[in-house]
Amino acid sequence: SKKIIIDTDPGVDDALAIALAMNSPELDVIGLTTIFGNVSVKQATHNALILADMASYPIPVYQGESVPMVRTPAPYADFVHGDDGFGNIDWPASDKQAQSQSAVDFIIEQIRQHPGEITLVPLGPLTNIARALEKAPDIAGKVAEVVLMGGAVYTNGNVSPVAEANIMGDPHAADMVMTANWPVVMVGLDVTSKVILKPDLMERVAKANPAQGELLQKACNFYMDFYQPILGERGCMLHDPTNIAYLLDPSLLGMAEGRLRVITEGLAAGQTTFAPGDRKFPYAGWDDLPVQKICIEVDGSRMLRLVEDRLSNPVKG
Ligand code: BDR
Ligand code: CA
Repeated sequence: SKKIIIDTDPGVDDALAIALAMNSPELDVIGLTTIFGNVSVKQATHNALILADMASYPIPVYQGESVPMVRTPAPYADFVHGDDGFGNIDWPASDKQAQSQSAVDFIIEQIRQHPGEITLVPLGPLTNIARALEKAPDIAGKVAEVVLMGGAVYTNGNVSPVAEANIMGDPHAADMVMTANWPVVMVGLDVTSKVILKPDLMERVAKANPAQGELLQKACNFYMDFYQPILGERGCMLHDPTNIAYLLDPSLLGMAEGRLRVITEGLAAGQTTFAPGDRKFPYAGWDDLPVQKICIEVDGSRMLRLVEDRLSNPVKG
């Protein structure tokens, strides 16, 4: 199975994504690293420990960065995910603790120990990933892939007309990650905003798999309250789970190749700019950038069937 490190700011859709990954035998979640974003990094760690307890095998949690590299921190998304990141459900804390090693050091150590084997799976702002790259540039040649949820190319952003929340959380970090010489797959709003989870699916999951489903279903309520006026019906967008779906079955997604940059300052800060790979843009160094992949299409109904199947059937440990 594929060794992955999930870098996360849980977050309701992060929780769904993590459950999807831990219930999938194709993936071996070797650690959860936490990042500020939907909530503070401290709350993200608290939540990651709760989620790790739901797995059939031990998953260690490492706390990460608390602020972006350069910009003033954006406000936490309490209006989307609740103050606690789980839709204000007052869930009991885990009795476990985070590891003492930092997220950045864990990421570096694992990639060096398993060259070519580790896939980084960021579901929040990219600060931990960029800091790891800055501290240990050699990891670029040793990582299998960086499969990240973030950005928007052919569709609007969700925190500004052009910026998606994870990229806006730390645009400098995102620009470093997308222009580095390692294979990046961007799973952005172009696809994630098309995968809509409806309440009936979560009801079936909660019935089939109460041990995990109770928290997930409860957390979804608040998140669906936020999405209801946007969608015009009750449901929510499955951003972070689409990232995991790509790892499980890339045939669910349609891809394009090209060069990526992130606008770091000004009115368009947080915008992901994409130059399709067959186009030449002989200006400002575009043609020298590595060619990365972005997702532009998704088979939403097939992905929802996969999500339901995996969330309903925890892997017995
Ligand atoms: C992303 O931002 C967060 O609110 C979600 O967890 C997801 O990672 C969507 O823009
Ligand atoms: Ca997230």
